[in-house]
Amino acid sequence: MGLLDRLGVELPVVQAGMGGGVAGHELAAAVSDAGGLGTLGMLPPAALRGALQQVRSATGRPVAVNLLLPFARSAHWEVAQDADLVVTFWGRPVRRTSGVWLHQCGSVEEALAAREAGADGVIAQGVEAGGHVRGKTAALELLARTHAALPSGYPVWLAGGIADAADVREALAAGADAAVLGTRFLLTEESGAHPEYKRRALDGGPTLLTQLFGAGWPASHRVLPNAATQRWLGGDPVEPAWLRGLHRATAPLLARAPDAVVARAAALQRPGSPLLGPQPPVAGGPDGLLEAGPLYAGETVARISELRPAGELTRKLAAA
Ligand SMILES: Cc1cc2nc3c(=O)[nH]c(=O)nc-3n(C[C@H](O)[C@H](O)[C@H](O)COP(=O)(O)O)c2cc1C
Repeated sequence: MGLLDRLGVELPVVQAGMGGGVAGHELAAAVSDAGGLGTLGMLPPAALRGALQQVRSATGRPVAVNLLLPFARSAHWEVAQDADLVVTFWGRPVRRTSGVWLHQCGSVEEALAAREAGADGVIAQGVEAGGHVRGKTAALELLARTHAALPSGYPVWLAGGIADAADVREALAAGADAAVLGTRFLLTEESGAHPEYKRRALDGGPTLLTQLFGAGWPASHRVLPNAATQRWLGGDPVEPAWLRGLHRATAPLLARAPDAVVARAAALQRPGSPLLGPQPPVAGGPDGLLEAGPLYAGETVARISELRPAGELTRKLAAA
């Protein structure tokens, strides 16, 4: 019996966790209710608890919670314990839950470390992905290498570059147990992304793989251009070395800053100021983040031209 069957998930379509309010309860509930697996993106613990309760009251189907390891505190893990599974990302994989746990990986080495640490499965993330990008290998190639390195039957889900039913079929035919989609679900009616962020994403790529929005989290991420990328990068995705140094030096402090301080800093973020953090623009949040924050998007953004309702999309993605 596969992991999805064990969890009671009908369709091999997984909506990726997208933090900071992009993948909230409306999106996760719509995907899960349609038979896929919805995932709540990371929020402060009380908000995450509230979102999980909202999903539970909207659907009886399983739901996942995503935790970013550099920021996950005990209170986050307590909430995650009440989800049907936890997906972790970014950092040394360590089992912190007695429930079902998957770790999203950017390399074979990381997938092996996750299995060693007791993960029930891994998500292989290709470099095409939107948001934070862990590795440098294309998704299908990473899938093949990961399969070759892990025992047969060990669950491997695939993320990165998947946007339509043909992509889902290709991922499954290549041996993935499920397809994980972020950018496609960003562009749904239920995602919490700022409406103008959605509009710009519908206009398409090219995307940039950069570390520009690295205050508090110096790591690579794929974004659409805006005033901040124009100001600091111009046409070159590599940010100035001093800026990278500044983000590295301030990360330990900023990663532990109270949630209210982080929210305030995001509201004050300006394209011309170098302390650019990872909060994307969300509906009801500061409009300034449209030009001063990260517009996360994967390479598939160039192929997506309309917002869809998430439940209908989930079923279409799984259509044979
Ligand atoms: C807007 C956005 C936000 C993201 N935020 C997170 C996150 O908070 N945690 C996480 O594990 N992955 C995050 N990701 C990455 C996804 O988990 C996934 O790897 C990626 O979306 C797959 O590639 P795709 O965008 O081509 O579908 C994010 C992706 C996007 C597009």
